[in-house]
Amino acid sequence: MTSDAPDLSWTRRGVMAAAAAVAAATAARAEPAAALPDGFLMGAAVAGHQVEGNNLNSDCWLLEHLQPSPFREKSGDACDHYHRFRDDIALLAGLGLNAFRFSVEWSRVEPEPGEFSNAELEHYRRVAATCREHGVTPVITFNHFTVPRWFAARGGFEDTQSPDLFAKYCERATAAVGEFAGLASTFNEPDLGRVLRAMLPPQMVQGFAPVMAAAAKAAGSGRFSTVQFADPDVIQPQMIAAHQKAYAAIKAGPGSFPVGVSLAIADEQAMGPDSVSERVRRETYGPWLEAVRGTGDYVGVQTYTRNRWDKDGIVPLPPGARLTQTGYEFYPEALEATIRYAHAVTGKPVYVTENGVASEDDRDRVEYIRTALRGVGNCLASGVPVRGYLHWSLLDNFEWVFGFGPKFGLVAVDRATQARQPKPSAVLLGALAKSRRLA
Ligand code: BGC
Repeated sequence: MTSDAPDLSWTRRGVMAAAAAVAAATAARAEPAAALPDGFLMGAAVAGHQVEGNNLNSDCWLLEHLQPSPFREKSGDACDHYHRFRDDIALLAGLGLNAFRFSVEWSRVEPEPGEFSNAELEHYRRVAATCREHGVTPVITFNHFTVPRWFAARGGFEDTQSPDLFAKYCERATAAVGEFAGLASTFNEPDLGRVLRAMLPPQMVQGFAPVMAAAAKAAGSGRFSTVQFADPDVIQPQMIAAHQKAYAAIKAGPGSFPVGVSLAIADEQAMGPDSVSERVRRETYGPWLEAVRGTGDYVGVQTYTRNRWDKDGIVPLPPGARLTQTGYEFYPEALEATIRYAHAVTGKPVYVTENGVASEDDRDRVEYIRTALRGVGNCLASGVPVRGYLHWSLLDNFEWVFGFGPKFGLVAVDRATQARQPKPSAVLLGALAKSRRLA
C-alpha cells in the first residue's frame, strides 16, 4: 500500500489480538504505575539502510556485495519502508506511540559529491510531515552508520575535509526536514568502533582491515572507510569535529529543536577488586560524552546489555546465561545504569534513542520493555531528566552483519509480502504511551 489513505484493516486485526494478550498480562500486575512527564516521547526507531530497501549508493550496499562479504545477507528490499513509510507511520500512531525516529540517508540525498537531489530531500520532508499529520514527533538521525559510497572511497571520516562535507549535507537536509523535526541526532553511535574494540576478541577486529581493502578495490579507489569498520582512533577526531559543525548547521534552522548525539552505552559493571570497568568506560565513552557536554542539547542513550569486567578484562558469560539472538546477555536492567551514567557525566537531559532485544519470542520483548521502563521510572523518580524512550525497533529489519535473522521489531514483517503484523509488545508500548504511564 502506498496510497495516501492507508489500508490498516490488517493492522487493526493484529492489534486487537495482541491487545487481549497484553491486557491479561497487565491486569495481573499489582505494581504502582509511574506517570510520564509532559512532553515525554514514547515511540520507536528505525534506520534508513535497515528498513528502506535498495540503498544502492551507500557504502554498506557495496560491502554486502563483496565476495566474501562481512554481511550474512544482502539488505535488498529490506522492509520497503521507502515506499511504505505512510503506512508504517500510521501504524505507529495507531498503536498510540507519539514519536518516530528515522534517519535521512545521506547517500540518497547526495549521490555524488556536491550533487544534492531535491527529489530525495522532498522524500524525507514528506516522511517528517507525515509524522506531524499523525500527531507523531519526528526524531531525525542525520547519520545512522551508512555514508555515500563516494564519501567512503575518499577516506570517510579519516579525511580532514569530512567534517565540512558532513556539515554541508546536514545543512541541506535541515532545510528540507527542519520545519517538522522535534529532536535530532547528528550521529548514531559514533562510539561504536571503540565499543566493538573493547568487547570483541582482537582477531575479529583485525579482520576489519582486509574488508576495507577489498571494498577499496571494489570501489576502484585506494581507500575505503566506513563508520562501523574504520579504526575508531583514526576517525574519532574528525567525527567529533563533524558533530560540532553539524550541530551548528542544524541549529541554524529552519526549525528549533534539541540536537544531540546518540551513543552506544552498555552497563559496564565491575567484578572483584581492581576491576578495569572504570577505565573501559572512560576510554570507550569519555570522548563522546565530553563532546556532547560541550556541544549538544541532550545525550541520546542506546543500551542493549551489560558487560562485566574484572582486573584482567571482560568476564565471559557463565554457561547457561540467558542470551538474545545477537548473543548479548538478556539484561534490561542495564538501561537504568546507563541513563544515570550518561546524565552524570554530561549534565544533559537524556533521551533513550534505542533500547531493545532480539528475540523470536515476543514474550521476551514484553518482559524486556517492562523492566527497562521500570528503570526509566526509577531515574525520573530520583530527578534524572529523562525525556523520551524510543524502542529499537519498530520493524523486524535488516540487522547489519546478521542479516534478517535477529528479530528486534515491535512489528513483524513478512519477508515475502511485506505485510506488517504488530506483536503484543507493540500494543503494550502503545498502551503505556496512550495512558502516559511507564507501568
Ligand atoms: C544500532 C542499530 C542496530 C541495533 C541492534 C544499534 O547498535 O544503532 O542500527 O540495529 O543496535 O543491534
